[in-house]
Amino acid sequence: MRALVVVESWFGNTAQIAEAIADGLREAGADVEVTPAASAPREPVADLIVVAAPTHNLGLPSPASRGKAIEGGGSGEDVGIREWLEQATPSAARLTCVDTVVASMFSGSAAKAAQKLAHRRGWHADRGPSFLVGGTKGPLAADALETATALGRSLGS
Ligand SMILES: Cc1cc2nc3c(=O)[nH]c(=O)nc-3n(C[C@H](O)[C@H](O)[C@H](O)COP(=O)(O)O)c2cc1C
Repeated sequence: MRALVVVESWFGNTAQIAEAIADGLREAGADVEVTPAASAPREPVADLIVVAAPTHNLGLPSPASRGKAIEGGGSGEDVGIREWLEQATPSAARLTCVDTVVASMFSGSAAKAAQKLAHRRGWHADRGPSFLVGGTKGPLAADALETATALGRSLGS
């Protein structure tokens, strides 16, 4: 199976989740590429695509929220998951959306927003889990990487 993991991350936490999912996919025998959204192919050739984004303002990062992330010491690129989903040509690949969130009743979900946008664009998209971070800059919850690798293994099998 060919798998592509497309990621946006401003403080490194979602990037770690993406790598852990990729590890699990590889353990399941998949041929995996992990790529930032800005350099992800617009005509992806893959059986399975995972998109991973940090939750900003209850949904997917936007130009305004990225500005706030930069003010807070984060770094990244103008093109993130939102733009990639808007630009990429939908394929028959199964697309799974995951995110990182701060634990709260009102955290919202970038994965939910990504799934909605992906459906609108014509993808077959599932909403995967939200992985917890302790605050804007992290760190990831203690079990997050293990859970992400297990998700990769199950997606790849
Ligand atoms: C501008 C901004 C808005 C945010 N809004 C939310 C939010 O609505 N809900 C939430 O759970 N986390 C929110 N966060 C925290 C992010 O979820 C957290 O920074 C992210 O998960 C860390 O992932 P990263 O290291 O990959 O950027 C926000 C962070 C920033 C910078």
